[in-house]
Amino acid sequence: MSSQIDHLLNETRRFAPSPAFAAEAVGTAELYERAAADREGFWADQARDLLHWHTPFTEVLDWSNPPFARWFADGELNVAYNCLDRHVESGIGDRAALLWEGENGDERRVTYAELTDEVKRLANVLTGLGIGTGDRVAIYLPMIPEAVAAMLACARVGAIHSVVFGGFSADSLRSRIDDAGARLVITADGGYRKGKVSPLKPAVDLALADRNGLGAQETVEHVLVVARGGNAVDWTEGRDLWWHDVVPAASAEHEAQPFPAENPLYILYTSGTTGKPKGILHTSGGYLTQATFTNKVVHDIHPETDVYWCTADIGWVTGHSYVVYGPLANGATQVLYEGTPDTPHPGRWWEIVEKYGVTVLYTAPTAIRSFMKIGRAVPQKFDLSSLRLLGSVGEPINPEAWMWYRGVIGAESAPIVDTWWQTETGAIMISALPGVTETKPGSAQVALPGISVDVVDEDGKHVGNGNGGLLVITEPWPSMLRGIWGDPERFKETYWEKFAAQGYYFAGDGARLDDDGDVWLLGRVDDVMNVSGHRLSTAEIESALVGNDAVAEAAVVGASDETTGQAVVAFVIVKESYLAEHSPEGLAGTLRLWVGEQIGPIARPRDIYIVGELPKTRSGKIMRRLLRDVAEGREVGDTTTLADTSVMSIISAQVK
Ligand code: WT7
Repeated sequence: MSSQIDHLLNETRRFAPSPAFAAEAVGTAELYERAAADREGFWADQARDLLHWHTPFTEVLDWSNPPFARWFADGELNVAYNCLDRHVESGIGDRAALLWEGENGDERRVTYAELTDEVKRLANVLTGLGIGTGDRVAIYLPMIPEAVAAMLACARVGAIHSVVFGGFSADSLRSRIDDAGARLVITADGGYRKGKVSPLKPAVDLALADRNGLGAQETVEHVLVVARGGNAVDWTEGRDLWWHDVVPAASAEHEAQPFPAENPLYILYTSGTTGKPKGILHTSGGYLTQATFTNKVVHDIHPETDVYWCTADIGWVTGHSYVVYGPLANGATQVLYEGTPDTPHPGRWWEIVEKYGVTVLYTAPTAIRSFMKIGRAVPQKFDLSSLRLLGSVGEPINPEAWMWYRGVIGAESAPIVDTWWQTETGAIMISALPGVTETKPGSAQVALPGISVDVVDEDGKHVGNGNGGLLVITEPWPSMLRGIWGDPERFKETYWEKFAAQGYYFAGDGARLDDDGDVWLLGRVDDVMNVSGHRLSTAEIESALVGNDAVAEAAVVGASDETTGQAVVAFVIVKESYLAEHSPEGLAGTLRLWVGEQIGPIARPRDIYIVGELPKTRSGKIMRRLLRDVAEGREVGDTTTLADTSVMSIISAQVK
C-alpha cells in the first residue's frame, strides 16, 4: 500500500470546472455554508424542498437511542408517490422516465405517466396477494422496466423489497429469501446477458425447492414471473403467476397511502467479515431525502434537459439510490440498459450514449479500466459530445483511469465526480460538487454539505493533514442504515463498537488526508474484498470452498488486479484422498465452478492454489497479509509471528 500512497501523493494535477459549467450547476458553494451553520436545519430544508410530505414532520433527527437513528420521524410520505404521481400531477407525465435498451436491441420508452400506471396496477396485484405494510418481497430480475416498477410498487404499499442481484446463485437467493422471510418473489423467465438468455425462474425454483437438507422454502406464497427471455420454464400451479396475466388486468386506480418516515423501504444484502451476508435496512424519508439531494447536486440533474445514465444493476445499492429512487424523485430522464458493455460489440455503451444523447454518465472504475485496455479507438467511433458530467463509484479510481475517463470520454472538459459511499450509507457521502470543487485525479475529496467525516488513528484521534488512518463518519446522516435485518447486535458491533467512545461510525476503509484536508480512499482494512466495485467477503468464499467435499481448509485474499481492482485468490488444502485421484489443475477448475454455483459467478476465484499448509499464528489465525504478498508476487513480509515460520517458503515454492 505504501507505493500506492507515494504515487497518490505525487498527484498534483487540478481541474477546475469551466465557468460555463459552474454558472449552470445545481450545487453551489453556498450549500456548504448553510449546512455548516445548521446541519439538521439544512437536511430539514432538503427534505421539505425535494419531497412531498402527506404529513409534514416537526422533528428532524432523533438520536436519543444511538446508533438507532430516526429522521423526520413524525412525518408521513409515500416514496412511490414522490417518484411518480407527483410528476404526473405537475404536468410532466409525458416525460420519459426510462429509455430502456435491451441487450438484444429491444427498446422501450416509458414515460412517467406510463410507469405510474404500471406501478398502480402492480400495487393492486400486491394487495390482492395479501402483501402489505412490512411484508418482504424478494426481487430477482434483469435490468428491465418491470424491475423498477416492482421496487416502486413495494414502496407504494409499504412492503419491504429485497433485491437480489440476478448474478447470484440459487443458494445465495435461498439464504436471502429465508433471512428476510419473503412472502413473494418477483422474477423473470430470464434476461439477456452476453448475447444469451440467462435463466432466472429456474434458479428461483431451485431456491425454493427441498435441497441441501434445508427442506422446501416455507415463507414464499407466490412467484410473479415477467416474460422476458422467452425460455421455457417449469410452472407450479397455484404458486406461480405470469406478470402479463395479472398486471394489465388489474385496476390502474390506486391512491398512494402515507407511511411514517421511518417505515422500512428495503433490505439489501451485502458481504461482511463473516460468512453470512448482512441485510442492510433502509427506511423511507431520510433515505429518499439524501438520495434525491445527492443525485441532484452531485450528478447535477437538470431534469428538463438531461439524459442521465447510471450503469449499475438494480441488484446493488447504486441501482437503488441512483437508478430508482434519486433520479425518479428528481423527475429525471434516464437510460436503463439490460446487458453487458461488450455485447454485441465492444462499443455498445458508447453507441448507447450517442443514440440517446446521454449527458451525465455514472459508472465504475473497473468498467473504465476495461475500456482503457481495449483502447480509445472504440469510443472514438461514436459521438460522445453530449456528455457533460462523468461520475465514478464503487472503488478507488486510479489517476491513470481518471485521466483517461476525462480525456477520452469527457473530451478534456467534463468534470469527474468520484463518489465515495457504501450500501450502509445509502447515498453519496464524499464527493466533489461538479460546479464548485477543483477536482484531483484519484481523490474523492470532500464530505458533502451536511455530512461530516474524519480520518482517525486506532484511538479515534484525528490524524491531521498529510496522514493516513481509518475513515469514520462522525455525525448521523439521513440515509444511514437503520440496522441489520434481524440482528441489532451485529449492527452495533460491526459499525459502532470500534469508536464507541467517540460515537463514530466506522466505515471499514483506510483513507488519507492530503495537505488540503481532502480524502484519498485507500481500500478496505477488513477482510472484505472489492472486485469490480462489488463487495465480497473472504469468509463467505472460504466457507463455500470448505463446503466442497474435496477441501480440508481454505484461505481467500483479495489481490490487486489491473482491471477489477481486486481479484479473488484462494489457497486451498485438499484432502489426501482427492489429491491422489485428481490433478491440481483439475481440482482448481472444479473448485472455481463450485464457488460460482454456491455464491455466483462474480465470486469465482481468479486463481486457486492447491497448497499443503496455510500460514497461521500461534493462536490459529490465518495470516492473510502473507498470502496477499504471495498472490501479488511480492517478497513475503514479516513471518516471525507464525507458529511455523517455514510454512511461507513452502507455499511460495508451491505457488511458483
Ligand atoms: C465500499 C462499499 C457505493 C456503492 C458501490 C459499492 C468502496 C465505494 C468508492 C470510491 C474508493 C470506494 C469502499 C466502500 N468504495 N466507492 N469512490 N472510492 N472506494 O458499495 O458494495 O457497499 O461497497 O466500496 O471500500 O467501503 P458497497
